[in-house]
Amino acid sequence: MKVTIRVATIDDLEKVQELNLKLFEKEYRDYDPLLNLNWTFGKEGTKYFRERILRNDGCVLVAVVEDEIVGYLCGGIKKVESYRNLPSVAELENMFILKPFRSRGIGKQLLNEFVRWCESKKISKVKVEASASNKKAIKFYRANGFKNYTLILERDLETAE
Ligand SMILES: CC(C)(COP(=O)(O)OP(=O)(O)OC[C@H]1O[C@@H](n2cnc3c(N)ncnc32)[C@H](O)[C@@H]1OP(=O)(O)O)[C@@H](O)C(=O)NCCC(=O)NCCS
Repeated sequence: MKVTIRVATIDDLEKVQELNLKLFEKEYRDYDPLLNLNWTFGKEGTKYFRERILRNDGCVLVAVVEDEIVGYLCGGIKKVESYRNLPSVAELENMFILKPFRSRGIGKQLLNEFVRWCESKKISKVKVEASASNKKAIKFYRANGFKNYTLILERDLETAE
């Protein structure tokens, strides 16, 4: 199977959004019923992906097999928190590979290309957030050199009504 990794163009916007919606639907079903499934194709989601594709501080990569986009990765350069002595940081914000194409090294190829992009921008650290229950993704990120840094905990509260 020949896989090509390339930078997304604005013509890929809708396809990238379709894959992102599949990611949202999966996460909604498996981990997080608070996800807004209208975000991806709504005003904010569309602006976010347009900017990530078009602007220099964004990076959207697609994986192509036989002229079909089967996966994508989206990330960008983040503002560094002033309490950390860190010159520059990028975030891998979301990625998704269609199920029949998983576990064939496509995720790793996308990630490696994103790391090359980060290095070209002189970025010194890459971060990624994942749902705590998404064991497969966490295993994938660990296998690719990511280590635990922050753990975010949430607690539901009783509302007044
Ligand atoms: C997480 C995800 C992006 C990883 O992508 P992927 O293409 O499956 O990743 P890879 O193929 O590079 O690596 C996954 C596994 O395949 C294995 N693998 C890689 N190349 C392989 C090959 N040629 N043959 C067999 N196995 C292979 C890797 O060793 C790894 O195994 P492991 O899970 O036991 O560590 C993908 O599973 C996915 O889209 N999941 C759903 C969405 C999601 O959770 N996204 C992340 C949240 S933002």
